[in-house]
Amino acid sequence: MNGIGTAPSPEELRDGLRSDTLLGVRNLKMHFPIKAGVLQRVVGHVKAVDDVSFDVKKGETIGIVGESGCGKSTMGRSIIRLYEPTAGEIFYNGTDIAKLPERELRPLIRRKIQMVFQDPNASLNPRKSLGSALSEPLRSHGLYGNKQERQGHIEELLDLVGLHPSVINNYPHEFSGGQRQRIGIARALVLDPELVIADEAVSALDVSVQAQIINLLEDLQEKLGLTYIFISHDLSVVRHIADRVGVMYLGNLVELSDKESLYEEPLHPYTQALLSAIPVIKKDGAQQRERIVLKGDLPSPSSPPQGCVFHTRCPYKMPMCETVVPEFREAAPGRQVACHLYGEPPF
Ligand SMILES: Nc1ncnc2c1ncn2[C@@H]1O[C@H](COP(=O)(O)OP(=O)(O)OP(=O)(O)O)[C@@H](O)[C@H]1O
Ligand SMILES: [Mg+2]
Repeated sequence: MNGIGTAPSPEELRDGLRSDTLLGVRNLKMHFPIKAGVLQRVVGHVKAVDDVSFDVKKGETIGIVGESGCGKSTMGRSIIRLYEPTAGEIFYNGTDIAKLPERELRPLIRRKIQMVFQDPNASLNPRKSLGSALSEPLRSHGLYGNKQERQGHIEELLDLVGLHPSVINNYPHEFSGGQRQRIGIARALVLDPELVIADEAVSALDVSVQAQIINLLEDLQEKLGLTYIFISHDLSVVRHIADRVGVMYLGNLVELSDKESLYEEPLHPYTQALLSAIPVIKKDGAQQRERIVLKGDLPSPSSPPQGCVFHTRCPYKMPMCETVVPEFREAAPGRQVACHLYGEPPF
């Protein structure tokens, strides 16, 4: 958020987008009401996503990391409009889709943005054969007019995700975990999307299968020109696949950098702590970083701290951090960070 002055209008925000930006998220908030009592009165809000802004370029992979409950999934689901965002803009190819009604969303983004989930079963009907499950979205969007065309498209897709086209008549339970995730990916790709949001897509898989699925996602990106938002709590997995990495803490994006800089020299104290927990061997062979153990507990997203949300646990806390929200600003070329250690706030 701007510290001073009036906030730019949605038109100004849209005009500020670069031409290679596929997705421009501006000040996105998703607050869930907390209801209590017989009357189910709203007594507070879970601020699952609280003022997040970032851009995704066509063809890149943005990794989103952060501890459980920091709002990664909620952010993904808000972008795809599974939720009604509380506030903010979501520019997709220059159009703000944050408040569009379903009938306008359907032709515009329902096909173009797809999600891959941790549990592929969630998006597969156990009583339907693979062919039938994958042709359903095609029918409902009126794509690939007749049965043969649909079948042809699905067989091609199965081949693309590394499954034998003959499995088209099989049912979800007949597949292993890794194969099921290949089906989950096929399900996400069946409508020829441009942007795929993968939410913990490999987290439930064995390490060797994880690597196969990540390689598959990379191949598919190259072949189909896809753009990815890859959400994971696993920093090592994200390091492998992402071009840029965003770090979330308590509903906020606290740092966004190209992968190399972020892992080599994290700027935000929270990123430093998060990375210190994973052992990394540096080029000269030396073990990297001392483990930083954060003090205190993770605050509740229903009553996040004032000022910088991280100040209650930050080893470098200054008095201003308790009251002044740090702007999410460019601290070095291509690196954004929300922290008072980097530059003075605008007053
Ligand atoms: N539908 C919902 N209604 C109310 N609160 C929710 C809802 N979905 C998520 N939350 C809350 O919002 C916060 C963020 O949750 P979210 O699932 O987005 O986190 P996450 O970063 O994806 O965590 P994980 O790594 O465990 O998947 C949590 O406090 C969670 O309890
Ligand atoms: Mg999640």
